[in-house]
Amino acid sequence: MADMPTVRWGIVATGKISGWFVEDILRRDWPQRSASHIVQAVGASSLGKSQKFAEEFITARNNSDVQPELYGSYKEVYKNDDVDCVYIGTPHSFHKQNCLDAIAAGKNVLCEKPFTMNAKEAEEVFAAAKAKGVYIMEAVWTRFFPTVKALQKMLHEEKKLGKIYRMWCDFGLDIDIPSLPDDSRYKDPALGAGSLLDIGIYSITWGLLTLSENVGDAADDPEVASTQTLSHGVDTDSSVLLKYPSTGRQGICTSSTNFDSSGAFARIEGSEGHIEVFGGKAASPQMFVFHPKDGRKEERHEFEKPGRGFYWEADAVAHDLKAGEKESETVPHAETMRMMRIMDGVRKRGGARFPVDDW
Ligand SMILES: NC(=O)c1ccc[n+]([C@@H]2O[C@H](COP(=O)([O-])OP(=O)(O)OC[C@H]3O[C@@H](n4cnc5c(N)ncnc54)[C@H](OP(=O)(O)O)[C@@H]3O)[C@@H](O)[C@H]2O)c1
Repeated sequence: MADMPTVRWGIVATGKISGWFVEDILRRDWPQRSASHIVQAVGASSLGKSQKFAEEFITARNNSDVQPELYGSYKEVYKNDDVDCVYIGTPHSFHKQNCLDAIAAGKNVLCEKPFTMNAKEAEEVFAAAKAKGVYIMEAVWTRFFPTVKALQKMLHEEKKLGKIYRMWCDFGLDIDIPSLPDDSRYKDPALGAGSLLDIGIYSITWGLLTLSENVGDAADDPEVASTQTLSHGVDTDSSVLLKYPSTGRQGICTSSTNFDSSGAFARIEGSEGHIEVFGGKAASPQMFVFHPKDGRKEERHEFEKPGRGFYWEADAVAHDLKAGEKESETVPHAETMRMMRIMDGVRKRGGARFPVDDW
């Protein structure tokens, strides 16, 4: 316990995801816990919002002597010398500028997914981080779940599924988008609205992590085909096909804001059987079941997950910072760039264009 690395976080924005992240990292009871987390500062568009956030998510849970500094701006978080890493929880369209501001102040950054609106913005942010010598990672929290790590081991090291042929993954939510205000992040293309960047990104992540043994520069780029259905310029449904030319493996990765999907959210098929993956949604896996082809008994692999599961990515950041890394092995910059390029292509073909896109 005493040797655990500690991260002093600066939280930027006080919306839904920031609350979930802070609730989780202030717990102490997650399996394989390997780091400590302190909320050092909170920045919001007004001081009142920071204060309300602290009352709701920090005060009763705070297990350190540190009382977070509460600010009515994001800039004060970047300037705070006691903040080791800034967590960015604004809507997609603000990620680029928030990251650039944090980097300019010399801060390490964990930025919510999708990293930016498009690949061009992501390149700009990574270049700035490299020039400044700071750590930055896209918060693809799912990749850090023990469920995912165990599944990848079974698929790619133990090869229990034999030859992998195909997978599918679906993430569906039922959001009545027409009823939302025009400035909702689910409705406004200027804020990056649409199923693809919000939830389709998870389905594609499952495609990449099950079909490819490698990540980042070591991984191949899949061929991609796709289609989108738009409503008022925003994609309600995106369907993405991945194919790895070297192995022939295929993935079907779908997202929808018209239907609340349940049950198994993913299946991976191979020469020795198939695996189904379950959880609340594709972002947050809880269990997978291996069904061997030869009629042997199925194997259930279930994993304890108090709260939501954001602490595993936070622990990984703590270890990276302690080791002086500038990027994560699990979500390297090259993997974020691959995802941004795939999603750019899907939107170019499907028509879900954002005002910030230069195509
Ligand atoms: N990892 C996950 O599972 C997960 C889940 C949900 C969302 N996310 C990601 O997290 C990000 C935020 O999503 P969210 O659901 O937390 O959004 P949200 O509830 O709408 O909160 C976004 C926050 O950003 C700030 N903000 C600054 N300018 C804004 C503007 N013009 N419109 C709206 N908000 C603005 C606001 O904070 P202040 O007023 O406090 O500054 C607001 O509370 C998105 O990029 C999303 O993809 C990730």
